[in-house]
Amino acid sequence: MERSQWGTRAGFVMAAIGSAVGLGNIWRFPYVAYENGGGAFFIPYLFALLTAGIPILIMEFTIGQKFRGSAPLSFFRMSGKKLEWLGWWAVFVSFIISCYYAVIIAWAIRYTIFSFNLAWGSDTEGFLFNEFLHLTVQPGQTGGIVWGVFIPLAFVWIITLGILFAGVKKGIELANRIFIPTLVVIFLIVVLRAVTLDGALMGLDAFFKPNIEELMNPAVWVAAYGHIFFSLSVAFAIMITYASYLPKKSDLTNNAFITGFANSAFELLAGIGIFAALGFMANQQGVAVADVAAAGVGLAFVVFPQIINEFPGFNGLFGALFFLSLTLAGLTSLISITETYVAGVSEKFGISRNKSLAFGGGLAALISILFATQGGLYFLDVVDYFINQFGVAFIGLVEVILVVWVFRKADMLKGHADAISDIRLGGWWKICLGIVTPIVLGYMMFGLFKVNLL
Ligand code: PHE
Repeated sequence: MERSQWGTRAGFVMAAIGSAVGLGNIWRFPYVAYENGGGAFFIPYLFALLTAGIPILIMEFTIGQKFRGSAPLSFFRMSGKKLEWLGWWAVFVSFIISCYYAVIIAWAIRYTIFSFNLAWGSDTEGFLFNEFLHLTVQPGQTGGIVWGVFIPLAFVWIITLGILFAGVKKGIELANRIFIPTLVVIFLIVVLRAVTLDGALMGLDAFFKPNIEELMNPAVWVAAYGHIFFSLSVAFAIMITYASYLPKKSDLTNNAFITGFANSAFELLAGIGIFAALGFMANQQGVAVADVAAAGVGLAFVVFPQIINEFPGFNGLFGALFFLSLTLAGLTSLISITETYVAGVSEKFGISRNKSLAFGGGLAALISILFATQGGLYFLDVVDYFINQFGVAFIGLVEVILVVWVFRKADMLKGHADAISDIRLGGWWKICLGIVTPIVLGYMMFGLFKVNLL
């Protein structure tokens, strides 16, 4: 059967950006930057982007486009069974991520609706844990299903699997062409409103104030690399899969730069918007920005509702737009993660895409119900922790070492990318992939083991 293809180059780039821009950009980046040197963080961040993020993205685009398969098949075609397993590992990690990523999107959908009448009241933390999540059981127990999460979760899976069912061009590409521009417009409105609030400058000051001595702290560099991996969705098998639907002659290097910079631009925008809003709240409550700054679930579902409560006029609308941004950013990433294993399984076992979709997607949807139970948040925390610690950067490290050093494919990939690009990959590409990235990632791993042994 003919391999599916993207309709246009812009469609592919939009889908790659859709995968990269996700919850991580909105709720993770601002706080990581703030915690790790503020304005000074941009130095390790840019370094990580240029030495690891974009070089690996170019590598994955090239592997996918040249070998025309999802990660396991592409790796198999490149170096046989000895590399195929790495693809399956990445596919497995993606599968697990999709199970809980979907749940967070379900929360965001629910909170979009809550925004209109500020249903969370003044105790936003109590509301989240007690009234919304019904977190009343002990860690490790499931308790009953929480319908307020289950229903939007079902909706998330219906949309995601429905889009994948429609195919690469009519489904994934079309959805991204609609969702991504909409997301950018909505998010710009949120950010513009946030920066014009009283106290916004105080927040921006806290965000951008450079803490130069932090540059000497290795943990800050590790944070920058870790964030870039998650944020750009590299080492998850995703970008290989997406690139496998490209026509034979598309400029991969250029596309990788566009994707990388667009993702960072979005993150920067998020940092500005989030910290402006935090500055507003700190000002309102007469406390320091440090007292209200947070990340992840705490930022989006506890602090943000408080900000929305104190908002001067149109707060329901502001809240709804914020949570809608989170929803759209999350959905386009979830689509990409799910496509990874749907394509992987279908190619390996020679079953149709739709069967694989029903089986793989259905299984992920079933497992995700675990996170929509009363003890769901505990499970989510544990799984998220392990995936982030042992999944993300670890696969990246093994990937570069195997591709560059063990199977020695860097020159061949470079030749392929250069032949179809306006941009030549100089020696920097191989040095970044083969030397700089393994050293930094190796250090990260070593640091993690140390932490865990203590
Ligand atoms: N890059 C996405 C984000 O920033 C997350 C993601 C991770 C998406 C892994 C796909 C795969 O949120």
